Amino acid sequence: MRIEVLTIFPEYFSGVLSTSLLGKAVARGTLEVHLHQLRDWTTDKHRTVDDTPYGGGHGMVMKIEPLALALEAISPPGAHRVLFSARGHRFTQGVAHRLAGLPSLVLVCGRYEGVDERIGSFIDEQLCIGDYVLSGGEAAAAVVIEAVSRLIPGVIGNEGSLHEESFAAGLLEYPQYTRPEVFRELRVPDVLLSGNHAEIARWRRAQAEAATTERRPDMRTGTGAPADSAPAPAKPKKHE
Ligand SMILES: C[S@@+](CC[C@H](N)C(=O)[O-])C[C@H]1O[C@@H](n2cnc3c(N)ncnc32)[C@H](O)[C@@H]1O
Repeated sequence: MRIEVLTIFPEYFSGVLSTSLLGKAVARGTLEVHLHQLRDWTTDKHRTVDDTPYGGGHGMVMKIEPLALALEAISPPGAHRVLFSARGHRFTQGVAHRLAGLPSLVLVCGRYEGVDERIGSFIDEQLCIGDYVLSGGEAAAAVVIEAVSRLIPGVIGNEGSLHEESFAAGLLEYPQYTRPEVFRELRVPDVLLSGNHAEIARWRRAQAEAATTERRPDMRTGTGAPADSAPAPAKPKKHE
């Protein structure tokens, strides 16, 4: 997969893209990430990417011209273009799976109070990573790159585990333990030491169901915001 990231802080990604599984995937070429400085598409000597909002109000708004020019220049043909926004559809594991099936993504990181709404003509969808406000889209891009890339074959090297992970089957994962058997009187549950694999599977399933019911009742009822609320966008691209 090839990912383009458009940002005014490309340096934000240096640690993210060189660490752990992501670092290995980039080094191997399983994942290609290209960072683009948005200011390279400005034309004034101050390399300005923001301006005051029409209608008044707090803060600054990201200008449309450098964003549109940059998107036209950096988007590979057919690339799927995503703007990060607190006003976007919710990013979920289901959306991560959808994006992981695409050959190329362009991720646009907002800053300031937001982005000129006309950006909608140059992107395919807007994604929000959770119900809170970040100072910029870079952290959201890092989250999406990590969640999507671990679904690409060859990135985590243990694809079997993906089927049992939280959200894979509408449940949170069961609890995990490792050595020692007892730590300060805290014991590993007997069933995990029994060697009875059918019993262990039953226990894990019951634990996963109980944790999901307690912590994420919205997942059990199929209601609530955190469902896979960002369907594949239907709208045709207005700009290539
Ligand atoms: C300070 S925020 C702007 C928030 C905006 N004024 C609002 O109330 O929706 C600046 C940028 O951070 C990013 N951002 C903030 N929260 C986000 C979230 N929950 N998910 C994805 N991106 C987010 C977006 O790119 C946004 O343009």
